[in-house]
Amino acid sequence: MQPAWAIYLESDFRWAIFAPTVPSTPIDPHMDLHLKDKVALVTGGARGLGQAICLGLATEGAHVAINYCRARQRAAALADRIRATHGGDAIAVQGDVAEAENVARIFEQSEHRLGPLDILVNNAAVWPRAYVREMTEEDWDRTLAVNLKGAFLTCREAVRRWLAAGRGGRIVNVSSAVAFLGSTTGHAHYAASKAGLVNFTVSLAREVAAQGIYVNAVAPGMMRTEMALDALETNQAGYLQRIPLGRIADPAEVANTVVFMASDRASYTTGATIDASGGMLMR
Ligand SMILES: NC(=O)c1ccc[n+]([C@@H]2O[C@H](COP(=O)([O-])OP(=O)(O)OC[C@H]3O[C@@H](n4cnc5c(N)ncnc54)[C@H](OP(=O)(O)O)[C@@H]3O)[C@@H](O)[C@H]2O)c1
Repeated sequence: MQPAWAIYLESDFRWAIFAPTVPSTPIDPHMDLHLKDKVALVTGGARGLGQAICLGLATEGAHVAINYCRARQRAAALADRIRATHGGDAIAVQGDVAEAENVARIFEQSEHRLGPLDILVNNAAVWPRAYVREMTEEDWDRTLAVNLKGAFLTCREAVRRWLAAGRGGRIVNVSSAVAFLGSTTGHAHYAASKAGLVNFTVSLAREVAAQGIYVNAVAPGMMRTEMALDALETNQAGYLQRIPLGRIADPAEVANTVVFMASDRASYTTGATIDASGGMLMR
């Protein structure tokens, strides 16, 4: 029996008994994320933040489908490494997330090898540079297609499968601090796609919360990955000025937040976008 609280209501001349407000499962003081044998699909998982997320999930005991578009060798090497050193299974799955038929195939290959999916991480993105005055329609369309439509297609596929099977699941969408700040460096299309992803996260979270499907996002600031390499080479000091923690993130630091949000430890959070920006965002 859980203890209850009794409060004397002076206006009513009576005692009121309040039921305890504790979670249905006991609070575990350990940081075991309970991801052992969960199955996760990470888009753009072969390098950068995606790779760190795959390794983070594998470290917690999950089996990982590593989606890649062009980085075939890196994806295969990462899958080998996870199988050899983490104890879980891993598979590299090729596919452009902007194409619906590719997305269906990515899920089929993943499920065929690893079983039904528990976790989807939408990490794949492109970050082309062009100020609006010189931006082509192709630039705009491709950025929105990979960063936003790609996440829609994978979320739709995951949600359809979970609803059909009557099971819950967890989605983490990788957005960006620029979703809230806007871009000052010629990435308006990217910023718009990431802002769209934040709002899409909220809408989908509302749609499927009752079915036990959690949908959250993480907003990184600046990380040391290939995406940011040129920008950091030319303007590291400018970025550092805007980061209260005073340093560029290692992708593994942001991956930790993503992995936590992919776990049942984040059991009372859905529709949220978690800031992992070294304080750049502080909304
Ligand atoms: N780096 C930063 O400072 C920063 C800041 C804020 C947010 N983010 C976000 O963090 C996430 C990871 O970025 P990152 O820095 O790790 O970038 P990255 O090193 O450039 O990696 C991008 C990943 O996206 C994949 N990708 C691109 N187009 C794809 C497509 N059409 N289909 C499937 N995969 C595709 C790439 O796969 P292939 O190599 O196989 O083509 C690659 O694995 C992105 O969502 C990015 O927007 C990054």
